[in-house]
Amino acid sequence: MLKIGVLASGGGTNLQALIDAIESKSLAAEIAAVISGNPAAYALERAKRHDIMSYYVKKGSYTAQDDYDKALADIFNRHGVDLVVLAGFLPILGPAFIREFERRVINIHPSLIPAFCGKGYYGIKVHEAALASGVKVTGATVHFVDEGTDSGPIILQKAVEVKDGDTPESLQRRVMEEAEWILLPKAVGMFAEGLLK
Ligand code: GAR
Repeated sequence: MLKIGVLASGGGTNLQALIDAIESKSLAAEIAAVISGNPAAYALERAKRHDIMSYYVKKGSYTAQDDYDKALADIFNRHGVDLVVLAGFLPILGPAFIREFERRVINIHPSLIPAFCGKGYYGIKVHEAALASGVKVTGATVHFVDEGTDSGPIILQKAVEVKDGDTPESLQRRVMEEAEWILLPKAVGMFAEGLLK
């Protein structure tokens, strides 16, 4: 069975979508470990509630990016992780981590890449930018992670309508409900079935 390692910094609703898909048997995989760089991340609490090994790794404790990358990779390797999922993870991962898990790291981003992505676009900021630009459609993207920011090959995308009167928060919620929580388990399932090249 595919073993997943999840990196999450925030609320962990995408982690929860994976947990739910696994528990309802619509996704044949196991979450082997969850790592956060934020000790207060609710994602860690979700992991604990579902008996998933969880770790807090403080980036500030490492002076070199390579050492930080190695610390994260060591945890996942110890758990025999096959696929790493970035589910709202803020710290930058360096080339040492990406190379260790080459073509085995995927990310969920809350826009239709190449719109509203790259440096500085994360979480609510993405939805603020979408509303400021006046687009009528946004969405979410699951993509492989390469050494750039939001630049790896796209796996799945889903469009979501922007409605009159949306706030960044209401748009974020709709993008999560209508796109992210569906796309992420689906992409992991496709990886598990060997459908992704
Ligand atoms: C999600 O909307 C995810 O797409 C986004 O952070 C949020 C995390 O929410 N990720 C990025 O913006 C990455 N560039 P969650 O902790 O509830 O899953």
